[in-house]
Amino acid sequence: MLVRVETLMRESVAELDIYALSLFDKLPAGKRLRAKLILKIAGEDEESVKLASIIELIHAASLLHDDVIDDSDTRRGIASINAIFGNKTAIMLGDILYSKGFSELTSFSQEISKTVADAVTMLSVGELMDVELSKSLNMNQELYFDMIYKKTAVLIEAAAKSAALLAAKDADAFALYGKNLGLAFQIIDDVLDITMDSETLGKPALHDFEEGKTTLPYIYLFESLDEVQSNKLKTLYKKRLNKEESAWIKSIMTESGAIAKSVKLAQKLGYEALGAIKVDKNEALEAVIKNMIEREF
Ligand code: FPP
Ligand code: MG
Repeated sequence: MLVRVETLMRESVAELDIYALSLFDKLPAGKRLRAKLILKIAGEDEESVKLASIIELIHAASLLHDDVIDDSDTRRGIASINAIFGNKTAIMLGDILYSKGFSELTSFSQEISKTVADAVTMLSVGELMDVELSKSLNMNQELYFDMIYKKTAVLIEAAAKSAALLAAKDADAFALYGKNLGLAFQIIDDVLDITMDSETLGKPALHDFEEGKTTLPYIYLFESLDEVQSNKLKTLYKKRLNKEESAWIKSIMTESGAIAKSVKLAQKLGYEALGAIKVDKNEALEAVIKNMIEREF
């Protein structure tokens, strides 16, 4: 069924412009988490495939813009569109994908289209927050959680909620599932930036701090360090790290328990997501959470 989502995404671009299609074909597909959720919640038919393709077009657009904003040369292990064709092309391909997504969204009910449209607006607010928070060291957990909710969880929440609306299921329960899954997902993503190597990640490792992003493990780490170590860590903020500095950060992240604490919180959110859909037993949706939170870090 995911193949039908891929095909529909491609057809949506193909009917617009052949050059845009050639660029679209260079995008790596990724996990298609949002599409999978929609198909698992709403079942697999023409409408759910269409909704899934819309959300994935919008998600792809957000990553195209994000790579320009983050000045990122790689996406999912290959050169990003901005790296190959430049920022202008990446931004315009993103604009084509998300506005086409919005155009197709008008065929759904007002409740569904508003759920998705509001989420995309919030996504942009979240990305703006991320940009602002990256300008100086952020140690405020509340701001971090607000930012990752908007930047990441909101679209996953909207995918789950709109799929539930489509299938006349409990929209609030599935929205809560999506929100908690999204929060846990971003926290894990922030942990993996520290614990994984570049090859496995498909992008440079230990990059967030260099980019100015004080993610949850860094916030926890600062809370646990003494003044000397805290000052040492501050001198590495936004700096290109050498081997020794990278190794030091990785080791204090583990020793201080900052990684374990972050993973524990992601797991708690994962179990809350499972709790939200307890009544509507769905093994595939449970597996999505379990695969994410029961892995080794
Ligand atoms: C990746 O975060 C970025 C996002 C999840 C959201 C990006 C959203 C926008 C650019 C708003 C604009 C929206 C549209 C539809 C054009 P990250 O940088 O933490 O993760 P990464 O390591 O995968 O880049
Ligand atoms: Mg990025």
